[in-house]
Amino acid sequence: MSKRALVTGITGQDGSFLTEFLLEKGYEVYGIIRRASSFNTDRINHLYQDPHAPDTRLRLIYGDLNDSSSLNTILRNTQPDEIYNLGAQSHVRVSFDIPEYTAEVTGVGTVRILEAIREAGIKPKFYQASSSELFGKVVESPQTERTPFYPRSPYACAKAYAYYITVNYRESYGLFACNGILFNHESERRGETFVSRKITRAATRIKLGLQDKLYLGNLDAKRDWGYARDYVDAMWLMLQAEEPDDYVIATGKTHSIREFLDEAFGHLDLNWKEYVEIDPRYYRPTEVDLLLGDSTKARRVLGWEPKVNFKELVRLMVEYDLDLARHEKASRSLGERAISAETGWWET
Ligand code: NAP
Ligand code: GDD
Repeated sequence: MSKRALVTGITGQDGSFLTEFLLEKGYEVYGIIRRASSFNTDRINHLYQDPHAPDTRLRLIYGDLNDSSSLNTILRNTQPDEIYNLGAQSHVRVSFDIPEYTAEVTGVGTVRILEAIREAGIKPKFYQASSSELFGKVVESPQTERTPFYPRSPYACAKAYAYYITVNYRESYGLFACNGILFNHESERRGETFVSRKITRAATRIKLGLQDKLYLGNLDAKRDWGYARDYVDAMWLMLQAEEPDDYVIATGKTHSIREFLDEAFGHLDLNWKEYVEIDPRYYRPTEVDLLLGDSTKARRVLGWEPKVNFKELVRLMVEYDLDLARHEKASRSLGERAISAETGWWET
C-alpha cells in the first residue's frame, strides 16, 4: 500500500517541489490550501490535472494553520504516515510589519499541528521547516546543529518557538519529529519578493526593455544559497532515517547580494550598477549579515548533498525568467494586459 503524506504550505515553492518528489515516489499526497480571493495554486496546477479521477494521488483540502479545528478534522480524516509542515508567513521583512500574525502562523501553527496529531491518536513522522534565520546574528561560522540561536526578526523568533516545540514533542511523546534547518534555497518558483527572484525577474525584464530600474536594500548581506529541488530531497531523507534528529542543510558556500547581481546581470551582458538603486524601504530594522552552513551531519547520516551550485542556480533562474519576460513582451505587443508592475509598494 502506498504511503500517505500531508503537506502544509503545498502552494509554496518548497511545497510544490516536495509534492512532485513524493508523487514520483508513489505517495498519496494531501495538501492543505488556504482560501484566497484569487487562485494561488499556480505552482501545483500541473500536478492536479483531474481532481475527480478515482486514482488521483494528490488531494487538496481547505484548512489553515491558524484554525485548530480544521487541522484536527484533516488529521483525523487523512491519517497520514508523514507530515511536512512547510506552511508559514515566510517573509522576514514582512514579519516586522505583521509580527503578531507571523507568530500565530509560523510559531503557534506548529504546535496546533502537533496537538492535532495527539488529538487524532496517530503517530506520523513529522518534519518541521526550520530555518538558518535562527542563527541570525551568528555567534560562529560556519553554523552547525550545535551553533546557538540568535534570532533577529519576528519571523526568526516564531521559527525558534516552532523549532523547540518540535524537539519537545519528540522528547515528551516519543514522536518521530525532525527539524530541517535549511539555509536559503531558491528556484524558478521562488516568490518574487525574495531578493534572488526579484533580481532575476528585474534583470531579464530590463534586458528586454520592460523595466528601467531595480530598487533594492542592503547589498552587503551574504547568504548560503542552494537549489530548492535539492533541498526537498533532504526533508524526505530525514523522515526515512533510523532515528529522528535535527539537521543543517546548506551548500557550505556564501555569496553577497552584489555577487548575485554580478552573476545574474553578467549572464545577460548587463552591468547592474547602471540599473540598481538603493531604496531604504527595503532595509530591515535588524539584519542578518552572514549565513554559512556546515551540513556535514546530513552528508554523513543521510547521504545528502547539494547538486546545483551558485552559478548554475543563478543561471537557471535567469533563463527561466528570460522566457517569462519574452512571453510578457509578446503579449504586450498583442495588446494584452502586462503582468506585474515595475515596482509596486507591496514589494519587499
Ligand atoms: P513560501 O513559498 O512562502 O510558501 C509558504 C506556504 O505557506 C504557502 O503555501 C502559503 O500559502 C502557506 N501558508 C501561509 N500562511 C498559511 C496559513 N495561515 N495556513 C496554512 N498555510 C499557510 O515558502 P517556501 O520558500 O516554500 O518555504 C517553505 C517553508 O520553509 C516555510 O516554512 C519557510 O519559512 C521555510 N524555510 C524556507 C527557506 C527558503 O529559503 N525558501 C529556508 C528555510 C526555511 P499561500 O500560497 O496561500 O500563501
Ligand atoms: N527581500 C529582499 N528585497 N531582500 C533584500 C532586498 C530586497 O529588495 N535588498 C536586499 N535584500 C537582502 C535582505 O536584507 C537580506 O539580507 C537578503 O537580501 C536576503 O533576503 P530574502 O531574499 O528576503 O531572504 P531572507 O534571507 O531574509 O529569508 C529567506 O531565507 C530564510 C532562510 O535563511 C526566506 O526564505 C525565509 O523564509 C528563510 O527562513
